Amino acid sequence: MQQHDDMILITGATGFLGGAVAVELLRQRHGARLLLMVRGDSTADAYTRVCTQLRRLGASDVDLARLKPSQILLASLERVDAIAGDPRLMKVGVAIHCAAQASFASHPSLGALNIDASVILARLLQRHGRLRRFIYIGTAMACGTRHAQDSEVTESAELPLDEQSHLVPYTHSKALCELLLSKMVPALPLVVLRPSIIVGHTRLGCAPSSSIYWVFRAWRALGASVAQLHQKIDVVPVDWCAAAIAAVALRSEWRHDLLHLSAGAASSCSFADIDSELAWTEGEAVGNYDILSEDRLPELLPRIRQRLPDCNPRLLLRALRLYGGFSKLGYTFSNAAMQAADIPPPPPLVRYAGLCAASVAHETVSRQMRWDFK
Ligand SMILES: NC(=O)c1ccc[n+]([C@@H]2O[C@H](COP(=O)([O-])OP(=O)(O)OC[C@H]3O[C@@H](n4cnc5c(N)ncnc54)[C@H](OP(=O)(O)O)[C@@H]3O)[C@@H](O)[C@H]2O)c1
Repeated sequence: MQQHDDMILITGATGFLGGAVAVELLRQRHGARLLLMVRGDSTADAYTRVCTQLRRLGASDVDLARLKPSQILLASLERVDAIAGDPRLMKVGVAIHCAAQASFASHPSLGALNIDASVILARLLQRHGRLRRFIYIGTAMACGTRHAQDSEVTESAELPLDEQSHLVPYTHSKALCELLLSKMVPALPLVVLRPSIIVGHTRLGCAPSSSIYWVFRAWRALGASVAQLHQKIDVVPVDWCAAAIAAVALRSEWRHDLLHLSAGAASSCSFADIDSELAWTEGEAVGNYDILSEDRLPELLPRIRQRLPDCNPRLLLRALRLYGGFSKLGYTFSNAAMQAADIPPPPPLVRYAGLCAASVAHETVSRQMRWDFK
């Protein structure tokens, strides 16, 4: 079999990033090569869910016509071993493993879903001998919290593995997974791609997902922040990230085993820049922010009740404390390896923040929060 007609397995195509990767590969006419591992009651159910998500992420009817129910590999992360005897695995040349429990909320099965399932999948694919690239979608925040505030974090394979160095169990699980994939499946042709924070889409704004975007809105509505306004946040749009992943999947020669997919210090925006872009789009003045430490966040309760009455105040406070913890770090993620691999840099958030705002102007913050607290 030629490398260019082997199959490309994607996990997580019903999600934000995995869906965008599938759309990008459909757009580049690799639709017939896709094999999508999706959970569901039946293949028909999984196929319908995938198509709905790909349409939401911009796939056209023509794109979707290239995808058949026979390209669904029905499996959950809980039962990856169920696909062991599937003959289609023998044709997989590239795997893009996006599926994960990606929420910051604690989840009792996080280790099984984010770590064990990845190792089982990698072993199954590697055993079939045709696999030439296993792309693991990690996260830049697997670097933990030990870097100095406002650092540009470099691409390092050394990640902190103790829970105390992580703000949430999710990033800890992603760090552990990277290590275990390399130790437990040593012959795996592993490429680790670590996106920074994914917000919106450069053409669709937040219509496909308001994940994390609502955090900017909430701080702005409350006139408060735990990060200083000059601090930067490293954000990338989902379609750029998907195009970068597709490029790594499709190139016949590939020599890099670890990349941040990130804006880096140069293209990351400050909270002040983002606020002024949102203000301009909304026809309002730039925000006047109180900078609060996390332990003072409960002082915001009256403002939450008054300005965001749709939100559950306790839930919103908990969420702001979590996300505030990340934003206060002020980390940006070096994309030197990405540039060395000739992957073009992402557009800065301010270039499409207005589109994000306009695309979901009618939606309440509480509704948008559901993307991150499923
Ligand atoms: N979003 C970001 O800002 C960001 C940043 C850095 C890295 N990442 C990484 O990017 C990847 C995708 O994240 P995302 O934001 O696209 O997440 P997402 O929208 O929540 O999508 C998660 C995907 O994983 C699947 N999944 C979850 N639990 C599963 C299970 N038990 N069995 C089978 N499939 C399951 C979901 O399928 P269902 O539809 O069936 O639930 C969905 O397709 C993750 O590995 C994440 O760590 C994301």
